[in-house]
Amino acid sequence: MVTLKIDGIQVEVPKDYTILQAAEKAGVHIPVLCHDARLNPFGACRVCLIEAVGNPRMMTACTTPVAPDMDILTNTEKLQRIRKTVIELLLVNHPLECPVCDKGGECTLQDLTYEVGLTKVRFDAKPADTPVDHTNPFIERDVDRCVLCGRCVRICDEVVNIQAISFINRGMETMIGTAFDQPWNCEFCGQCISVCPVGSLNNRVYLFKNRPWNLEKTDSVCGLCGCGCYIELETEGSELYRMGELPEKGANHGNLCAKGRFGFEFVNSVKRETSAKVKSAGELAVADFDQAVVTIAEKVKSIKAQHGADSVAVLVSPRLTNEEAFLANKLAKEVIGTGGMFALEPHTSLPEATYADIETSDAVAVLNIDVTEANPILGLAVRAAGRKNEAPLYVFYPSETALKRVIEKQFTGTPDEVYASMTRLVEGQGEEAAVLEVLKKAEKPVAVYNPYNKADLWFVSELKKQVPALKLAAARAKANSQGVVDMGALDAAKLKEGIQNKTIKALICFGENPAVRTGWADLSLDSLELLAVTDPFMSETAKKASVYIPVATYAEKDGSFTSLEGRVQSVNKALCKGLKTDAEVISALAERLGGRLTSCSCEARELIRKEVPLYKDADFDGGLISYPYAVKGEFEKPAKAAAGEGTHYLYPSSLRLHSGSYTRWSPDLAKVYGEAKLEISPADAEALGLGDGAAVSVSAAGITKTFKVHVEKHITKGCVALPEDYADTAVIFSNGRYPKVTLGKKG
Ligand code: SF4
Ligand code: SF4
Ligand code: SF4
Ligand code: FES
Repeated sequence: MVTLKIDGIQVEVPKDYTILQAAEKAGVHIPVLCHDARLNPFGACRVCLIEAVGNPRMMTACTTPVAPDMDILTNTEKLQRIRKTVIELLLVNHPLECPVCDKGGECTLQDLTYEVGLTKVRFDAKPADTPVDHTNPFIERDVDRCVLCGRCVRICDEVVNIQAISFINRGMETMIGTAFDQPWNCEFCGQCISVCPVGSLNNRVYLFKNRPWNLEKTDSVCGLCGCGCYIELETEGSELYRMGELPEKGANHGNLCAKGRFGFEFVNSVKRETSAKVKSAGELAVADFDQAVVTIAEKVKSIKAQHGADSVAVLVSPRLTNEEAFLANKLAKEVIGTGGMFALEPHTSLPEATYADIETSDAVAVLNIDVTEANPILGLAVRAAGRKNEAPLYVFYPSETALKRVIEKQFTGTPDEVYASMTRLVEGQGEEAAVLEVLKKAEKPVAVYNPYNKADLWFVSELKKQVPALKLAAARAKANSQGVVDMGALDAAKLKEGIQNKTIKALICFGENPAVRTGWADLSLDSLELLAVTDPFMSETAKKASVYIPVATYAEKDGSFTSLEGRVQSVNKALCKGLKTDAEVISALAERLGGRLTSCSCEARELIRKEVPLYKDADFDGGLISYPYAVKGEFEKPAKAAAGEGTHYLYPSSLRLHSGSYTRWSPDLAKVYGEAKLEISPADAEALGLGDGAAVSVSAAGITKTFKVHVEKHITKGCVALPEDYADTAVIFSNGRYPKVTLGKKG
C-alpha cells in the first residue's frame, strides 16, 4: 500500500493505483475525458492534468502511478487555466450543434466546458462539414464531433476484441474509421457508442426519439439471454426508449451485446396482443381476462375429474422470473395436484465458473459452442482470459469463431470430426493430448460448454474427471434458464412422452413456445383437450391455443432472474402496458381452481427463502448461489454426432442478434437479420451455383424447408449452419442436432 496526499487529504491505496484512482478514493474530483475505468490508461486529452508539490512538470492523473508521500494538487489556478485552454482547443474544430446533437444533456465535452467556465473560444476555425455516416445499421458516426479520445477504438480492441475501428490518417486528418473506409466488420454491440463522450457515435435506435432529461431510469437485468447483464431501462410513460449500461454494477461491468442494447423494441411493439382470446368454432376470439381464466379453470377441473391430476401439465418458460416459476410450480403441485411444473431446460448442469473465474483463468477450453454468439458477455469473459490474462484458449467447434484472434488453437471440422477431436482430448490422444496436459497443469482451468447438447455432456464429465481443478461454465440460453430449474422444474422428457402417448390432456404453457424449440417443433399438440398459452405475442404455440392470455415482458414486472453464473438479480418494473404478469395469471387461475396463491413478487420471494433450500440465504441483489455440483449423471460416449443421410452436415448456430421469439419483433434487429438464413462456405456455394440471398431447399428425414443463403467464409466446407429457435429451423433439427441434409437450388 502507498500513502499520499490529494489536495491535503491523506489516502492509502494499493501501489498499482493511478493518481486518478487515489483521488476517487479520497473523494476528490478530477475531470476526465479520454479515461474510462474499463480501459487501459491512454493519456490522450490532458484534461486530467495535476501537479505534484516539488515537481515542476504537470502530469496526467489517469496515467501516472501513485508513489509514497506524493503531495498532489488538482485544482490550482495554473491547472484551471491550462484545463480551460485544453477544452478551448478541443472546441476549435468542434461544431457547436448542441441543440440538435443527440448527446446534448449527457455530453462530457458540454459538461467540461461548463465546469471550466469557458464562455468564448478565442481561435477562429471553421469546422469541417463531413457528411454523417450511416453505413452501420445501429451507429451514426459524425466524425466532425470527434475529440479523438480513442475510447471507442480501445473498447472495441481491449474489451470486445474485434478491432472493427481504428485511428486512420495522420496529423490534422486523423479520424476514427475503418481501414480503407471498408464497411464496419462489426459485432453491433454498441460498446463504442456507450463510451463516446461526445455526439460522434450515436445510437440510431434512439436517435431523435427523446431527450435524456425526459427519461426515467430503472435498474434491472436484461431479459434476453442467460448472461444476466445489469442494465438500465430508460422510459417515458409506457414507452421504453433506450437501454443504458451501469459499469459500476453487475458482473457484466457495463458491457452489453447488440441484442441487449438494441433489441428492446419488442416491448413497444404495436404487434403485441392486448386482449385475451378463447377458441370458439375453431377460431380464437377476443375475451376478457376473467372469461379466459374461467375457461381454463373449468376445463382443468373437468379433465382432472375424468383423467386424474397427472393428465394436466404446466410448462414454464425460462423467461418467467424466479417468483413466477415458484408460483407456477405451486399451482401445478398444490393446486392442480400434479408432480410439478416442467421446463425445456437441462437438469444435469449447474453453474460453477463465474465470469471472474473465467477472466482470471490460465487455460480455457470451449467445447462445441460459439460462445461469442450464444452468450456474448460470457464470450467477453473468455476473450478477457485470452487477451488480458494471456491464457491459452482451445476451441472445439465446427467452424472458426470470433475467438480466433485470441486462441491458442482451434479444432474445427465436421460435427463428427469435432466429436472425434473432443474424444481424443478427454482420452489424451493425438495432438489434443497436449491440450489435456495444459489444462491439467493449469491452476485455474475453465471449460465452457453447451448444456443443451446432451451428447456433449459425456465429454464435459470425462474432462472434469481428468482435470479435477476444472471449473465448468454451462452456457444457458435464456434469462432465467437456471432459475426455473432451481424453482423445481422437472425434466420435460416426461411431458413430451405424455403428450405423444396422449396421457396428458391439458397443457398450461406459461410463456414457453415449444413450436420453435429444438426437439419440440415436430410435436403435435392437436390431441390436447386444453392448450392454454400466455405470451406477450401471438407466438407459434399461442396460435394453436384454446385459450390465450397476453402478458407483460420482463420490463413490466418485478422479480428476479438467476444467471448462468448462478447469480440472483432483481428485475424491476420500469413501465406498464396495462397487461397482467404471469404471476397474476397464476394467482387468478389458482383462485378459480379453489386454491390461493399470491401474485406479489415480494411475498413469493419470502416463500422461496422458506421453501427452496438453495435460496434460503440468497442475496437477490447479485449474490451467487452455492450449487452442490457442476455436472451430474451417467452419460454415454457418443458414437458420432451426425445422423441420417445427406450431402452436407448441418449444425445449429447461435445468433448474437436473436434469441428466440421476442427479438424477432424488434424492427431494427430485424433489418439486419430478419429471417433464418442458411450459412454455407464459399466453396460449397460455388459448387451448387448459390449466391448470397439465393433460395435453397434443405431436406432431412423427409422434411424439406426453404431458406435464403448466406455465404460465410468461416463455415467449414461440407457443413452448413442454421440458427435454432425459428419455426422452420427447429423442425429441421427434429432428428438430432447434427442431421445430414441434402441441399437443392431453388428457382
Ligand atoms: S459496435 Fe462493437 S464491434 Fe462494432 S465498432 Fe463498436 S465496439 Fe466495435
Ligand atoms: S468517436 Fe467518440 S469515442 Fe471515438 S475517439 Fe471520437 S470522441 Fe472518442
Ligand atoms: S449478453 Fe445476454 S444478458 Fe447481456 S445484454 Fe446481451 S442478451 Fe442481454
Ligand atoms: S483523462 Fe487523463 S489524459 Fe484524458
